[in-house]
Amino acid sequence: MNAISIKNLAKTYANGTVALKGIDLDVAEGDFFAMLGANGAGKTTIISILTGLVVKSAGQVKVFGVDIDASHQEAKRLMGVVPQEFNFNLFEKVEDIVMTQAGYYGIPRAIAKKETHKLLKSMDLWDKRNVVSRQLSGGMKRRLMIARALVHKPKLLILDEPTASVDVELRHGMWEYLNKLNQQGTTILLTTHYLEEVEQMCAHAAIIKEGKIIKNESVKKLVQTLELEDYLITVKHVQGVDQLKEYSLKVIDEYTLEVVLNRKSELNNFLMKLSQTGMVMTDIRTKGFRLEKLFLNILQE
Ligand SMILES: Nc1ncnc2c1ncn2[C@@H]1O[C@H](COP(=O)(O)OP(=O)(O)O)[C@@H](O)[C@H]1O
Ligand SMILES: [Mg+2]
Repeated sequence: MNAISIKNLAKTYANGTVALKGIDLDVAEGDFFAMLGANGAGKTTIISILTGLVVKSAGQVKVFGVDIDASHQEAKRLMGVVPQEFNFNLFEKVEDIVMTQAGYYGIPRAIAKKETHKLLKSMDLWDKRNVVSRQLSGGMKRRLMIARALVHKPKLLILDEPTASVDVELRHGMWEYLNKLNQQGTTILLTTHYLEEVEQMCAHAAIIKEGKIIKNESVKKLVQTLELEDYLITVKHVQGVDQLKEYSLKVIDEYTLEVVLNRKSELNNFLMKLSQTGMVMTDIRTKGFRLEKLFLNILQE
């Protein structure tokens, strides 16, 4: 069964902005799915429609087979949402924020308390449980929203830019936690700009541009579709670069060359020609993250 099934989804805001132009998107149960796209592409609009914050203009949305229009409450129970903007009461205490959320779902107090404590501990917020949320750092606020989103044990967790304003070290911990959650069966849908993390963590990704999905495949495949690669090559001594004029080659210093190649069709030939110049290669590596470049290529198309 699909965790999310979106058909022909369209949204035009009241001011006339066309945010979504017919989105079709399936996310399988158990998937770890990323939505990538520039600012304004429509990612948050999709999430807001899923979670009932924004009313769609056309199309059909189902969550685990449950239509979000026909069975709004039932669909809502299946989802936990971590929105892009902090939206909790800044003057409420951390523990109370999670407990209040449990109350919305009618979870009995004793069970809610147990679950809240467990979540605050795993989100590293246990020491802050009696602090008003205003006093938390950006990363702590984000983790508080994750704890709050999970208190009713949703089958689908949706996170809009979850690692924004989270520092690198804590970001790593958050991804580890999400990965564990995913392995325990929770389907995860997120948007992010940290593409190297998508490459490491997510199974599938859709790239959204101007309200349309322009790519939707496995992250592995997405990465493979990028044929151009930026190579840094170390040689014993740079010489005879004239013979390599046909390539877009930059001499960085007397030991280092940078060259952009199609790694499928050009790499072997280039290496052969390199050795014909008399240069002795001691190291070759790619520069930067492949998916990031793919993403940029697509956005610039
Ligand atoms: N409440 C709104 N009213 C009018 N336009 C909006 C509203 N929310 C978003 N938009 C517009 O819809 C488009 C998609 O926005 P959004 O879904 O927030 O994109 P993303 O999350 O990918 O940055 C943008 O052009 C944005 O300006
Ligand atoms: Mg957004």
